[in-house]
Amino acid sequence: MPITTHVAQALAAALEYPPEHAPGLGRSLTRPPSPALGDLAFPCFALAKQLRMAPPKIAADLAARIRPDALIARAVAAGPYVNLFLDRTAAARAILGPILADPARYGSRNIGGGQVIVLDFSAPNIAKPFHFGHLRSTNIGAGLARIFSFLGYRVVRKNYLGDWGTQFGFVIYAWQRWGDAAELQARAIEYLVELYVRAYRQSETDPTVREQARHLFLRLEQGDPDIAALWQQFRELSLAGFMKTYQRLDIAFDSYEGEAAVNHLVEGVIERFVRAGVAEESQGALVVQVSGVLGREIAPLMLRKSDGASTYAARDCAEAIDRWERHGFSANIYVVSRQEDHFAQLFAALTRLAAAEQWEAHWPATCENVSFGYVRGMSTRKGEAVWLEDVLDEARDRARRIREEKSAANPRAFPTLSAAELDHVSESVGQAALLYFDVSSRRLSDVTFDWDTVLQFEGNTGPYLQYSHARMCGIFRRAVAEGLAAGSGTPQAGPEPADEEWLLVLKLGEFPAAVAAACTEREPHEIAKFLHELASSFNAFYNKHTVIDPADPATSAARLTLVRATQVTLANGLKLLGIRPLETM
Ligand code: ARG
Repeated sequence: MPITTHVAQALAAALEYPPEHAPGLGRSLTRPPSPALGDLAFPCFALAKQLRMAPPKIAADLAARIRPDALIARAVAAGPYVNLFLDRTAAARAILGPILADPARYGSRNIGGGQVIVLDFSAPNIAKPFHFGHLRSTNIGAGLARIFSFLGYRVVRKNYLGDWGTQFGFVIYAWQRWGDAAELQARAIEYLVELYVRAYRQSETDPTVREQARHLFLRLEQGDPDIAALWQQFRELSLAGFMKTYQRLDIAFDSYEGEAAVNHLVEGVIERFVRAGVAEESQGALVVQVSGVLGREIAPLMLRKSDGASTYAARDCAEAIDRWERHGFSANIYVVSRQEDHFAQLFAALTRLAAAEQWEAHWPATCENVSFGYVRGMSTRKGEAVWLEDVLDEARDRARRIREEKSAANPRAFPTLSAAELDHVSESVGQAALLYFDVSSRRLSDVTFDWDTVLQFEGNTGPYLQYSHARMCGIFRRAVAEGLAAGSGTPQAGPEPADEEWLLVLKLGEFPAAVAAACTEREPHEIAKFLHELASSFNAFYNKHTVIDPADPATSAARLTLVRATQVTLANGLKLLGIRPLETM
């Protein structure tokens, strides 16, 4: 049982509350500013309001009523707070025991009970580059997928590719004019993008190009076999390119079916909207009025344009219904930024259809748009048009240069690596810098990217976390060389933990709550923040204390188990964020 749960139960008992009140009390527990004041603090403001009494008076009464036990050493009132002191030795065992007993599972819990979450993320557009802008959706989405499964949900990872729409008319138009099969084989997406841009540019001065492109797309929609074969080829080439990036990042999806695959359901769904009396004509187009449905004033959702073409929104309506029918999800989450209006319209239109058709399950209410802010300042040597592969390459190359400089300056701390090791370390550190940067602030904040900052081995960076992890692994290598057990097994009964050790122990105990918060808030940043605090607590401990002291085997053994618990917790958190924990760096 987590320590905070134990303390919350003791608080409930002291207040003579039924035990179901304990979790609520537990959530308001905080940490006093220094361990000298206590290990946990319970603020009495909310109780004071309820009981119409002054907070310090409540704190004093409550502190007197809390009974010390095996874990709680004493409770004292400090102004409006009850500060609790824990028995360090007993609490350290209670926290470290479960970590060491099942390291890979520490932080996981069965909250989901096998319920399904459909997670829509990444979703780049075919015949367009896998742009750096898609990294945030890919990264936050993949992080959430790992977090949800760690907590017992069954996650359906859906890569809803943008593989349909009038832009393909332009690509096909260009291909028919200028297409070169050898170029296409050699440069695939890059070449398709050039074709698209060329046709688009031409359309700016020659409006008939747009007309012809529209016509070509219409033929595609009607199933013209030649055009369909071209489209198929472009899609496969694009997806093959995206797959290289996904493999590099170690991300896989359960489905790569995009807008095209749902197209055959769209007419039927539009029919349902019409029959239910939910859709209406507006200036030749077919729309659903959604303003005010979910308490927001928004423009209508357009199912069909005045020229008869179905829309992105119509496809998303059909897709959501199809997802429900296939998976019966408990949540359907879209990790997409800057489409707030689109998703508000989508969810409201589905809500109206649900009411009109009297659906039994009110699933539109479980649809969510997990949005995120904008990354400013990214550019690579190739300039501002930023392809994700170029960004990953540059991160790797910069990481390699930094590693080589460090090795030249301090060969003891950074010994020469084999070529294969150096490749692995450079790629992993480069990725860590990029991926951690994305989650180092809350997802909705706009952020400014800077190569030098994100690659530093110190500060709030991915490489700092990896470096801390590698340091811990270095300690185990030394322990083994000294003939000591490298901190596995059960927690050792050592002397009472010193302040820095104790703060590290308490921090370790917070990991499950950080994972749970990341899940409920759809916010991988909660884990990033925790890991940074954990690494800082570790480094504060390690700078002050010697772990391996051949003259004092009992203390060494106790400290090695503490380092082991820290290392496995850090590794679990890094893996949830898609960052490779490294053993050497
Ligand atoms: N392909 C779209 C884009 O790049 C994102 C698709 C998001 N998912 C969805 N179901 N609409 O903007």
